[in-house]
Amino acid sequence: MNLTGKVCIVTGGASGIGRATAIKFAAEGASVVVADVNEAEGRITAEDIQRNSGRSLFVKTDVTVYNEVEQLVQTAVDTFGSLDIMFNNAGIGRYKPLLDHSPEDFDAVVKVNQYGVYYGILAAARKMRELGTAGTIINTASVFAFMASPGVIGYHAAKGAVKMMTQAAALELGEFGIRCLAIAPGGVDTPIIQGYKDMGIADKMARQHMRKQLQKPEHIANVVALLASKEADAINGSVVMVDDGFAEFK
Ligand SMILES: NC(=O)c1ccc[n+]([C@@H]2O[C@H](COP(=O)([O-])OP(=O)(O)OC[C@H]3O[C@@H](n4cnc5c(N)ncnc54)[C@H](O)[C@@H]3O)[C@@H](O)[C@H]2O)c1
Repeated sequence: MNLTGKVCIVTGGASGIGRATAIKFAAEGASVVVADVNEAEGRITAEDIQRNSGRSLFVKTDVTVYNEVEQLVQTAVDTFGSLDIMFNNAGIGRYKPLLDHSPEDFDAVVKVNQYGVYYGILAAARKMRELGTAGTIINTASVFAFMASPGVIGYHAAKGAVKMMTQAAALELGEFGIRCLAIAPGGVDTPIIQGYKDMGIADKMARQHMRKQLQKPEHIANVVALLASKEADAINGSVVMVDDGFAEFK
């Protein structure tokens, strides 16, 4: 158990990668605060962990509202005594060709996928510094921080920003012993890729992986848990590809 005694927050913990990671963190011995706008599904994640003798709490949180993210961090500390790992993972997609992608679509995606990550970095780092915790902040980027794909220009903007915010935060937080890194998943079979399924390109996406299939959320969760542990202490400021070779495949 690599995360015994650690206190973790997982945003987007009601579904997909976030849910799988919350469950994995708990299996590795951590106390896990599950945060999401989806209260019903978020509670199910926390209850699942509790049923398996883990420690978990659901906190309804909209990551696009800084005060809510700050309150989430405070609740984690008040409930479990510290904050060691912040996983800024909540995200949405809007799938439309560029010429139909409205400014409202762009704003909505950037608000969750970019501002949500920025708010998570800021609130967690401020609290870790206040408590003197050499914590770890992990952000969910995407292979689409590096590669173009059709129909998701706002998503590209936000994930590219996550990559650079991760590097900039690692640079400035290093003096406090805080690591900041990101993951770049390829195609993972979760509700967020429904838009690709609707556009009829999910199968093509699956074939772009070295093993020709979409990944499962658990594949990503296993890597996040490793990155959050002391075993990965040498990794900082990097965006770790978690994509079965998707970004290497032409
Ligand atoms: N599935 C993929 O192929 C893939 C690939 C690369 C990156 N990602 C990224 O992984 C992350 C998790 O996505 P997923 O695949 O698990 O999708 P998902 O749809 O299963 O989970 C996303 C979660 O984020 C939550 N969420 C949305 N807006 C929120 C808000 N304002 N505040 C709090 N929570 C909010 C949703 O309710 C949902 O529970 C996202 O950042 C996504 O961009 C996914």
